[in-house]
Amino acid sequence: PAEFNKAIEEIRAKLQVENAAPELCSPKVGIVCGSGLSGLGDVLKSKVLVPYAEVEGFGTSTVPGHKSALAFGFLSGGEGQKDVPVVAMLGRFHPYEGHAFATVVFPIRVMKLLGVQKIIITNAAGSLNPKIPVGTSKLAIVVIHDHLALPNLSGFNALLGPVLAPPFDTRFVPVSSAYSFELRKAVFKAAYDLQFPSHFLAEGTYAWVSGPTYESPAEGRLLRAAGADVVGMSTVPEVVAAKQAGMDVVVLSLVTNPVVIPETYRSARAEVEAEIAGKPVEEVKEEEVSHEEVLTISRLRGDDMKRLVARLVQLIN
Ligand code: 6GU
Repeated sequence: PAEFNKAIEEIRAKLQVENAAPELCSPKVGIVCGSGLSGLGDVLKSKVLVPYAEVEGFGTSTVPGHKSALAFGFLSGGEGQKDVPVVAMLGRFHPYEGHAFATVVFPIRVMKLLGVQKIIITNAAGSLNPKIPVGTSKLAIVVIHDHLALPNLSGFNALLGPVLAPPFDTRFVPVSSAYSFELRKAVFKAAYDLQFPSHFLAEGTYAWVSGPTYESPAEGRLLRAAGADVVGMSTVPEVVAAKQAGMDVVVLSLVTNPVVIPETYRSARAEVEAEIAGKPVEEVKEEEVSHEEVLTISRLRGDDMKRLVARLVQLIN
């Protein structure tokens, strides 16, 4: 499609100017690095960075913790391992930043046109499922097997709009098997190879919300009741675009925080009545999620995610 020609041309020109290895011009695997997970770019060999600002059609990531460049390079699992040519997005675009859907999924389509067939999408997410632990000692990475995208069902879908030219020309895209079973199995094999403890990985459903507000308690309970395990503000637009383009998709959510969904509310009436009656009232600390917390945890655990992705890339090539 014509709207991608300039971007592909600019990327290829930059790779040439930087003397990139020829294999890097058609990387086999694409990786999207979520909040705090751009460290993956650090382990690429013979790396060439292409800043988003130098590619027509790319937006700029405005979210703290997101860099703004494509990183081309070889990902290796270490001594005696394959050097696999990959392209990683260091930072992504979200609709809540004001980016059009076409901009949000533009890099995914560019990856497809560069020859990427398998795409690994990472994100930071909140846990809705008490069985999915949060924190540093009991880390969970959730291997996503389904999504619950209320925006997709109600007029806020990345594939809204005119049909594009091939290979992006499927009008009605099925998403019932968007999350590749083979790739999900490969993630568990990678975790086994790395001797990660079994509590480390879970399987679950990702709820996509538009953000930028976090969920209210009632919204959190709605998503939980509907079967979602984690919630975040990204990924699903990219998944549907990748699926439309015929790519194999795997999604890894790093769980950074619990979603606050108290079963009962603190009663304002009861507290006033207690105060009037002269009874002691207990102090309550109200919990809130913050982007700083999300970034702190994802940076702390980013290394494990990095190792998992590196091993996964070995296994699927
Ligand atoms: Cl709690 N909610 C959403 N929507 N996105 C998140 C999150 C929570 N934690 C990390 N990302």
